[in-house]
Amino acid sequence: MKTKDKAAESTSNASHDKISRADLIKALNEDLSREYQAIIAYTVYSQVLKGAEYMNIASELELHAAQELSHAIAIAQQIDYLGGMPTVTAKPVRTSESAKEMLQFDLDNETETIRNYRERVQQCEDLAEYAMGEKIREILIDEQDHQIALATALGKNVPRGAGGA
Ligand SMILES: [Fe+2]
Ligand SMILES: [Fe+2]
Repeated sequence: MKTKDKAAESTSNASHDKISRADLIKALNEDLSREYQAIIAYTVYSQVLKGAEYMNIASELELHAAQELSHAIAIAQQIDYLGGMPTVTAKPVRTSESAKEMLQFDLDNETETIRNYRERVQQCEDLAEYAMGEKIREILIDEQDHQIALATALGKNVPRGAGGA
């Protein structure tokens, strides 16, 4: 049986410079909203991207959609483990008629996601949630692959300080 008040209990024990478990739940729910956003964006963009030069990336985006779903499930599992309630709300998805713009939206979102997961790994470690930190590192590897695929399709370098292994 799971206790849903675990988070509240341990909040008061957190030191000032450390994130509390309640704050971690809140941050993970933001991550989950971003994963939902990514699922929706990749589902739609993979089908509407037109033009011979985008055929390869379109099929790659389908794979991204499936990976984002597995990330969403993994993050929801961590939120439940911490005694929180996983959100049901996605961050808004931008749309465009332009293939380039769609890919740029995806690239911007991946960069933002990577920035957040790097912070989350640190926060998990601060709370001695090492297994959770490891799970998020695994997700980070996928997000970095997504970022590289999008940057390559756009003929761009991966944003500085935001990509690579
Ligand atoms: Fe993801
Ligand atoms: Fe991603």
